[in-house]
Amino acid sequence: MKIAFIVGTRPEIIKMSPLIDEVKKKGVNYILIHTGQHYDQEMSQQFFTDLELTQPDYNIGVGSSSHGKQTAVMLEGIEEILLKENPDIILVEGDTNAVMAGAIASSKLLLPVGHVEAGLRSFDKTMPEEVNRMIADACSNLFFVPTEESAINLIFEGINPHNIHITGNTIVDACQRNLKIAEKNSMLVSKFDLGENIITVTLHRAENVDDPVRLKNITDALLELMEFTIVFPVHPRTRKNLEKFGFFDSLEKAKHIRVIKPVGYLDFLLLLSHSKLVLTDSGGLQEEAITLNIPCLTLRYNTERPETVTAGGNILVGSSKEVVIDNVRNIINDYTLYKEMSNASNPYGNGDSSEKIVDIILKIFNDGELAIKPADEFISHDGWYLQKISENINVAEYETININSLIRIVFDENKVLYPYPLLSLINKTVIIDRFNSKQS
Ligand code: UD1
Ligand code: UDP
Repeated sequence: MKIAFIVGTRPEIIKMSPLIDEVKKKGVNYILIHTGQHYDQEMSQQFFTDLELTQPDYNIGVGSSSHGKQTAVMLEGIEEILLKENPDIILVEGDTNAVMAGAIASSKLLLPVGHVEAGLRSFDKTMPEEVNRMIADACSNLFFVPTEESAINLIFEGINPHNIHITGNTIVDACQRNLKIAEKNSMLVSKFDLGENIITVTLHRAENVDDPVRLKNITDALLELMEFTIVFPVHPRTRKNLEKFGFFDSLEKAKHIRVIKPVGYLDFLLLLSHSKLVLTDSGGLQEEAITLNIPCLTLRYNTERPETVTAGGNILVGSSKEVVIDNVRNIINDYTLYKEMSNASNPYGNGDSSEKIVDIILKIFNDGELAIKPADEFISHDGWYLQKISENINVAEYETININSLIRIVFDENKVLYPYPLLSLINKTVIIDRFNSKQS
């Protein structure tokens, strides 16, 4: 058994690290491929050091360029490595160009792809990440989704529920494992003498930082929130644009704002855990904030992590200066709201996602069901059927009795339910996908 991990950017290194640890613990053979999309010391190597990861077996060194060129170079590089290494499964996590390229290259070689963090949808295709998520899911074979909500997104896109596994998110594993180490080793909070009233800010989405109007609105909001100590580790894309549009100097000169380079994971976790709240457009931070009980204000108009909003730990504030400022002050000054946000329950599991994912992969491999095999049976698609079930039967029983039928979606009145094998179907309406096996 050989697993190939593909990473390319900061969040992938962080979120993949507990999976790599788990695979090592279980003595499974693996290779690590870095596409090199992030390459600065503080965007890449720092995380290998903090998370005690061994160096990648391959680094494609793609660097920065346009989406098309970057993806093309990654595709070529990944294909070459996979042809040489012939792994049993390729694991990608999240929604970056590296994830999309990894999934496409693998599926074209008929190598199984496991997409960790599958099924997230912002329903906004102007985001490059949304397109990447959809393409990665279209090319994947195993779907490790963080929540039932993401699983339902996938079943509506026609993904076979038998290939979807609800496992939580590995960010919780990464957070929990590293916060204790951070508390012992990180000097950041004391070094900067940050006091009590910290707001941590991160910003890097194209729709915010490439747009001078939005970037100015957010910058102005930070400048006005003078009653806080704002710590802003600036992503290289953001720094480049703050300088280009002429906003960097005012941020750097503001006494209440600490504009710093991106920090390592241990420093960042400690900073986050000491913050009153976080202002961000990051995906990973929305998950980490709710894991660490820190209220999160998301500088976006939609999110592919709606569970954090429903749970009450995250509010979408967009990029209007007034809305950002009002929300920050409102949350800080309203003790009840602040407590509610801090106590929101974490929808992403309790830190055992990587163990679950590796166990599932090993079971499928040991059952001889991982490899992609060419068709050797005549099967045709009969059609899709809507049916109300009157028998007292669950999903697994229905599919055992009705061979070549797959329960895709279950409706209980108006509510959509995920077709768990043990879900009772009596009085529920289901969408059934039927096949005809023509082999005698
Ligand atoms: C990428 C991902 C995004 C993810 C983010 C995590 C895509 C399309 N985007 O965005 O989903 O949330 O990583 O941080 O895959 N740069 C450096 N040094 C580096 C890396 C980048 O200076 O080590 C600068 C370059 O000017 C580059 C710009 O940042 O052009 C953007 O980098 P890129 O990797 O294209 O996208 P991110 O914005 O980092
Ligand atoms: N992070 C970090 N140092 C920083 C800023 C962020 O270690 O200075 C971590 C953060 O804890 C989270 C991840 O980077 O785990 C999020 O990455 P990013 O926001 O770049 O990408 P996204 O999650 O939006 O894809």
